[in-house]
Amino acid sequence: MELLPVCLWVLIWSGSTSAAEAGPEITVIEGHDVTLPCSISEDITAERFDWRADGQKEVYVYEGGLSSSKDLSGQHEQFKGRVSHFPGGLKDGNASIKISNMKVSDSGKYSCEFRRTNQKQHVKLLVGAAPEPSVTILNQTKDLALLQCKVYGAFPEPEVQWKDSAGNIIPAEKPDVTKTEGKYNIILQTTVTKTDYYRCVSTQETIRHQIDAKIFVLISGTAQKPNIVTIDQTDNWAQLQCEVLGASPKPEVQWKDREGNILPAEEPKISERGGSYDITLQIKVTKTGYYRCVSTQETIRHQTEAETYIYLHGSLTGWIVAAVFGSLFFGVVVVAVLRLRGYICTKGPSDSQKEVL
Ligand SMILES: *[C@@H]1O[C@H](CO)[C@@H](O)[C@H](O)[C@H]1NC(C)=O
Ligand SMILES: *[C@@H]1O[C@H](CO)[C@@H](O)[C@H](O)[C@H]1NC(C)=O
Repeated sequence: MELLPVCLWVLIWSGSTSAAEAGPEITVIEGHDVTLPCSISEDITAERFDWRADGQKEVYVYEGGLSSSKDLSGQHEQFKGRVSHFPGGLKDGNASIKISNMKVSDSGKYSCEFRRTNQKQHVKLLVGAAPEPSVTILNQTKDLALLQCKVYGAFPEPEVQWKDSAGNIIPAEKPDVTKTEGKYNIILQTTVTKTDYYRCVSTQETIRHQIDAKIFVLISGTAQKPNIVTIDQTDNWAQLQCEVLGASPKPEVQWKDREGNILPAEEPKISERGGSYDITLQIKVTKTGYYRCVSTQETIRHQTEAETYIYLHGSLTGWIVAAVFGSLFFGVVVVAVLRLRGYICTKGPSDSQKEVL
């Protein structure tokens, strides 16, 4: 499994709930810090501003002139030791605060109020929990694998999907969703039949967050033995077809001689259905001999082959014809030579032969 960097971003956009509570909505992922914005266009160094959550809980109070980090006696437990303002921005009217280590339970409506002028500003905060999915192979046979993705402790509820390396969504079973302490636990299973990288993607639309985990699945697959068929044959040649049916992952199919040399074949015909491949590869051979069809699945380091012996009568007849004509010719030559030398007479004994006799 490969861990992906947690992609995180905080977005601010204007969410208008009611005219009175209009203000930006801020989204942040649990565990991170957030800055809640609030400002007016005057020096507020000597002013007082109060931050509250859900209209009542005291989040932070700045009192000009007093040492601001003191006198926070009214601060709610939830925010103790987690909030600070930006002293450098006070003279420019910046009353923003930073809250550290966000928790899902910090989500809510926040307000910032300037005491003297009674001006109030609002911020909506949504804290999401975006745990990385954990992916495992639950069960595997040579043809398929059962994959499981677990997303534990997510908020808001994520959409969890399985995708292949090309980004296609893989049909999965119905997700199993449970809730503990306001967070969602989701288990999603799927069955795959192809060797590939698979990703479990958890998407939280409302906080615009997406995170995934990858797993490589090797399906040893259907490494079918090739089947050799003689399509057509004459005395001088044979058209052979090698068929590898229902193989997965996609094999490379080649014709070879007995020494392992690749023989020039025609273009392979390839068809795919449901992740397994049918491949046919034809070759025309003109010599008697052994021919091999080899199917190689590189990704699973698997090779399987079939062999056939092709006997071409044409070439044998040729040898017989050559042998017959050859011996006839040899016979004629022998006869001619013997005759020249006078060992064979056709018209009775010659004068010389008479002398000898
Ligand atoms: C207030 O200060 C914070 C921290 O420096 C900064 O991020 C923010 O933009 C400031 N706000 C304004 C309105 O200047
Ligand atoms: C894996 O799947 C096979 C075939 O469906 C089944 O017989 C076996 O019990 C399963 N094993 C596990 C651990 O689930």
